Amino acid sequence: MIITIDGPAGSGKSTTARKLAARLGIPYLDTGAMYRAVTLAALEAGVDLNDEAALTAVAEREDYQLDLGPTHIRVTLNGRDVTEEIRSMHVNDHTRFIAGSPGVRRILIQKQREIGVRIGDLVTEGRDQGTAAFPDAEIKFFLDAAAEKRAERRLHELLADGEEVTFEQVLANVNERDRTDSERPVAPLSVPEGAIRLDTTHLSIAEVLDTIMTRLREAGLVQPEKDALVTAPPKARH
Ligand code: C5P
Repeated sequence: MIITIDGPAGSGKSTTARKLAARLGIPYLDTGAMYRAVTLAALEAGVDLNDEAALTAVAEREDYQLDLGPTHIRVTLNGRDVTEEIRSMHVNDHTRFIAGSPGVRRILIQKQREIGVRIGDLVTEGRDQGTAAFPDAEIKFFLDAAAEKRAERRLHELLADGEEVTFEQVLANVNERDRTDSERPVAPLSVPEGAIRLDTTHLSIAEVLDTIMTRLREAGLVQPEKDALVTAPPKARH
């Protein structure tokens, strides 16, 4: 079963996806981490970030791996652990080039679908999971929040990681990423058809999680009184 969670930066989707997956005992896929890993790879390779062919080649050639678990995600680039590095402001400031590359998106969506097929039950989050990657997902969510609130959340994360940034810088980055995410010609951020929309501006993560669990139960995807997925009956063998 595929559960998609899409939304802009700082909408709470990463934390929600991770906690939801832990509660259901299934892995989660942070697709932003894939775009971030390719961004870091492109920066390190020194390629022109406007060169579509070069970016596509980086996404194809470099070895970036995600170790998925219900409570963690570790990212490696050519064998090196880059889990923290991909969250830096330096990477933040350049993801738009990679996210705007049709070739990179094609490769990453393909990888995401392969992960979905291999793993089966998955909570996956990003900008295009319910639209481009998994249009047939069993259930889709779209999280949003006021830009100031999203910047505040990102600021806390960055400060905790030891970055020296101000609220104004983070807000400018959030606004810029909103603009480029929704205006880019290829796969712009949009609400997937049939998605359940949640405004998280005034909600805690626990409240968002409870709302999602309620919606999963109402849809018959999670067992009543339990935090377990309803497993589909085994397919008849011919
Ligand atoms: O979610 P996160 O902020 O880690 O994503 C990093 C960047 O990757 C975003 O700014 C967005 O441009 C891009 N992205 C995307 N499609 C996804 C996930 C992330 O374009 N499915």
